[in-house]
Amino acid sequence: MPITPQQPHGALRSYGRVKARVLKTRQAALIDKLAASVDIPEGPFDPLSLKPDAREVWLEIGFGGGEHMAGQAARDPDLLIIGVEPFLNGVASALRHIEDQALTNVRVNQGDAREVAARLPNGALDRIFILFPDPWPKSRHHKRRIIQTEFLTDLARLLKPGGRLRFATDWAAYADWTEERVLASGLFAWPADRAEDRRVPPADHLTTRYEEKKLGDCAPVFLDFVKA
Ligand SMILES: C[S@@+](CC[C@H](N)C(=O)[O-])C[C@H]1O[C@@H](n2cnc3c(N)ncnc32)[C@H](O)[C@@H]1O
Repeated sequence: MPITPQQPHGALRSYGRVKARVLKTRQAALIDKLAASVDIPEGPFDPLSLKPDAREVWLEIGFGGGEHMAGQAARDPDLLIIGVEPFLNGVASALRHIEDQALTNVRVNQGDAREVAARLPNGALDRIFILFPDPWPKSRHHKRRIIQTEFLTDLARLLKPGGRLRFATDWAAYADWTEERVLASGLFAWPADRAEDRRVPPADHLTTRYEEKKLGDCAPVFLDFVKA
């Protein structure tokens, strides 16, 4: 696993630090023991080569400490969930959840999800999660937001017809930014079972660590889109 994640050529960094503090002994040992065995292959790859009997394949972009990813994987062992996160301490935390819960249906990559997305085949995914991404609230930083029209085109390419993209944020302007861009792309539609109120967490949502911190300027907003 790289300590400096690869970004797609010309892409701006959409994340802050990749390493915050010295890893605890157990974290460092887990990186040594588990990281390679749960990583994804280099170059283009078919996720089903990692778990041929997977009923669905999900991608979580920026999983933070990995609580949501591990929780969803534990709920349904027939899923394959691929998580991508550049922050090394977050990867170590996710490995701890994988070991503690003996999960065999999670793959973890320390990297930039835009680089990983470019290596996946068309229609490889059933669901994509982008939960509480870095908000980059200042106007001059908006170009660093992970939600950009070009990346939405990549995400639509990766989803099967009817596949879902879930975005959540507690920054009001980022919710509006995302809704505008996703709907303007013409690549996604609202699902038929959409809640009237964007602040109602979807029934299958698991609270994330960042969500609990309540650092944004509004209550969490959940946007579920379906590939048109
Ligand atoms: C604010 S945190 C939220 C983490 C987690 N989803 C949660 O809700 O607790 C955003 C995360 O996205 C990650 N991130 C930012 N850009 C990314 C990218 N291009 N690919 C993958 N992860 C990224 C950051 O490192 C950070 O851990």
